[in-house]
Amino acid sequence: MSDATGASGATIPSDPTSASSSPGLLLVTGGAGFIGSAVVEQALGRGWSVRVLDSLRPDVHGGPPTLDPRVDFVHGDVRDAAVVDAALVGVDAVCHQAAKVGLGVDFQDAPDYVDSNEHGTAVLLAAMDRAGVDRLVVASSMVVYGEGSYRTGAGETERPAPRRVADLDAGVFDPRDAEGELLEPQLIAEDAPLDPRNVYAITKLTQEHLSTSWARSTGGRAAALRYHNVYGPGMPQNTPYAGVASLFRSALERGEAPRVYEDGAQRRDFVHVRDIASANLAALDWTGTQQPDSFRAFNVGSGTVHTIGEMAEALAREAGGPAPVVTGQYRAGDVRHVTASSARLRDELGWSPGVSFEEGMREFATAPLRAAVGG
Ligand SMILES: NC(=O)c1ccc[n+]([C@@H]2O[C@H](COP(=O)([O-])OP(=O)(O)OC[C@H]3O[C@@H](n4cnc5c(N)ncnc54)[C@H](O)[C@@H]3O)[C@@H](O)[C@H]2O)c1
Repeated sequence: MSDATGASGATIPSDPTSASSSPGLLLVTGGAGFIGSAVVEQALGRGWSVRVLDSLRPDVHGGPPTLDPRVDFVHGDVRDAAVVDAALVGVDAVCHQAAKVGLGVDFQDAPDYVDSNEHGTAVLLAAMDRAGVDRLVVASSMVVYGEGSYRTGAGETERPAPRRVADLDAGVFDPRDAEGELLEPQLIAEDAPLDPRNVYAITKLTQEHLSTSWARSTGGRAAALRYHNVYGPGMPQNTPYAGVASLFRSALERGEAPRVYEDGAQRRDFVHVRDIASANLAALDWTGTQQPDSFRAFNVGSGTVHTIGEMAEALAREAGGPAPVVTGQYRAGDVRHVTASSARLRDELGWSPGVSFEEGMREFATAPLRAAVGG
């Protein structure tokens, strides 16, 4: 733990850690969070010295986080330039995980999303420019795509418009083309058109755009990782911000059946948090080999497609709980299918996932979740 105090009253580091065998000092923003802590663990395992900058958002953390004692922890906010300047001293690369996550409750959440994610990233990147830190990995998301990618009967790629309420009311869940023909879902690649459909998604795309602009104007090297459906130990419990895997897991823990929207056939790519962490380490290595002014986006998915219904069944089976209930209900704005091609990450970064769906769901069914705030 560090001891100086920044403009916001946050503690800031006095002395960067270093080790002769280390690839360097890595700053992980949001490193006390679900994904950030998995990144920290693997970075330490790979010889990085690690500093964490995390504000410990009170709506995320019910209590103090458990951090590896080797981590230099800075309790502060990425929006606080003085704290970020101090946290960047001696740093070789930044892994930016800090964000307000999830879909939020309603539009009243919009200012907080924009401030935390867009303004926070801008402050961080400006500080990196001042400090001469030129390597960045930024956590992005599949939500930048909106709806997934589809093929028409004629074999052409099509991105359908949001589904019509009349269709959803009639139980017609799969997107159709203008002639009413069913579209066939396919894997989405990074060059697909981007179509963020909610405030959170807009802020994730803005984080990518800011990173591109930073790389261009400062000679930086940035990788944006578009995570698909992340799950694994330490995932936050039942909150409006939690992912569907956590909601099902929390229902099972209460002895209730997971309630699955639509017909349960929504296709997703469920990717384990340890695989997300190893993708971050691969992307960090990549930033160390690129020319100045480099930006590249990479999907991070397991490469296997499963439905939300299959995920609910696997969790219920492994937890020994009640079978899922498929409700036929829907939420306006939900995407029907979105699944990743992670070929770019595999081919260009030599990354591959290590946790299979079966193995990951078996572990997740009984793994500890992060304590609910106020719970
Ligand atoms: N969980 C997913 O399924 C998923 C999917 C796609 C992308 N992501 C992205 O991955 C990243 C990590 O998400 P997570 O699931 O671990 O969330 P999380 O809420 O568990 O972790 C985020 C961490 O960032 C910290 N934080 C938030 N705002 C901050 C700020 N302004 N300054 C300093 N620290 C701040 C929080 O205290 C928390 O510890 C986010 O950028 C998120 O958008 C997550």
